[in-house]
Amino acid sequence: MRKFPEDFIWGTATSSYQIEGAWQDDGKGPSIWDAFCQIPDRIKHGDHGRVACDHYHKWREDITLMKEMGVQAYRFSIAWPRIQPDGKGKANPKGIAFYSDLIDALLENGIEPWVTLYHWDLPLALQLEEDGWLSPSIPAYFAEYAAICFEHFGDRVKNWITLNEPWVVAILGYGQGVFAPGRTSNSEPYLAGHQLLLAHAQAVDVYRKQYQPRQQGRIGISNNCDWREPLTDSSADKAAAERALEFFLAWFADPIYKGHYPASMVKGVGDRLPAFSAAERKLLKGSSDFFGLNHYTTMFAADSQGKIEKGSVYGNGGLSEDQDVSLSVDPAWKQTSMKWSIVPWGCRKLLEWIDARYDRPEIVITENGCAFDDQLVDGEVNDLDRIAFYAGYLEACHQAIENGVKLSGYFAWSFMDNFEWASGYEKRFGLHYVNFETLERIPKASARWFRDMMQLP
Ligand code: GAL
Repeated sequence: MRKFPEDFIWGTATSSYQIEGAWQDDGKGPSIWDAFCQIPDRIKHGDHGRVACDHYHKWREDITLMKEMGVQAYRFSIAWPRIQPDGKGKANPKGIAFYSDLIDALLENGIEPWVTLYHWDLPLALQLEEDGWLSPSIPAYFAEYAAICFEHFGDRVKNWITLNEPWVVAILGYGQGVFAPGRTSNSEPYLAGHQLLLAHAQAVDVYRKQYQPRQQGRIGISNNCDWREPLTDSSADKAAAERALEFFLAWFADPIYKGHYPASMVKGVGDRLPAFSAAERKLLKGSSDFFGLNHYTTMFAADSQGKIEKGSVYGNGGLSEDQDVSLSVDPAWKQTSMKWSIVPWGCRKLLEWIDARYDRPEIVITENGCAFDDQLVDGEVNDLDRIAFYAGYLEACHQAIENGVKLSGYFAWSFMDNFEWASGYEKRFGLHYVNFETLERIPKASARWFRDMMQLP
């Protein structure tokens, strides 16, 4: 492994619903994921996050494991319905206490907290009473919730992420309906995406005006994107790949870095894409102190010549039919158990694309990782495929840095096996194995590999 910059941030990541459990403890309200998991056939094997990794009770042990692994930073999310059980009004003191203690213990152990305010567990009341992310009232509620977090934790938390992957919320939650709140539409994703962007902007505005001057932290957003490689050298396929990246990442990053949606979306989506007012544009532009990126895989993109079938896997939800892009993979690429192709050079190309399009922002990879069918054999998981995955992707990151990309940190997804949304507990993304019956955690070979690699001079 080649040498990374001295001040490179090495971390690992989780999210509240995927690990905490304790779904009704200490005044927590229900979230849309608590509800979604109760609908038959939405989640593999009928799994749910009621107990998950029971991190809510085992967090001290988890911090010890992180320390043993040698990470400098831990990215976790706050469950909004623990802080405000119905998404509005007064804070729940026990919810505040839980995260406050967690933050203190991380700092005592020399681990920097990176806190995501929203990783998909919307208070159910806001879904039922306000129509969730479709409602123009949601951004203001989010900003109020964010202010509670800045107020209580901002003296110690210096790295904030407003939203995790608004693309997933919009497309999987409101387009394909495979994630909470399970809606299917070819227009709602664009409405939800719009409110998500405004929620981000309002929360950042509150932080910048009321907290950042004295708390001196940073705030950003984590967007997800795969790489899209043109299938052929034809100009039509090259344009298709560019369009695909615009509909994926620039949908959320252009408003934040340029103050407007990409032209290809305005053209392709038409009047289903809402417009920003001048004031909203101003609030959005420049609203991220760093470029948070979650990256997992790569696909080929080709011009579909208007032949995309509506309702196909990639077509539903105003995704490919609006872009006019056909996606495919190279059968020679190895895949993870999510059937995501392992293509490290796609990571490098994506980093370079972001660097060029957004005028060399500081980029932090806030998620990268892989699921494999890890088995415990004689008390050990010898996850060599996972080590190879990380070695390949980190090599690609290193090349990007050598090529001038300002990549300042990397968070492995995930610290431990957890509730992988609609896939339930079957897909194991962790550096630590979790036995979901006994809740025992066991470091995998990859956790030791990370420890050794991070200690390299
Ligand atoms: C991301 C998400 C994580 C995790 C990961 C692996 O989209 O932020 O919560 O599930 O994918 O699928």
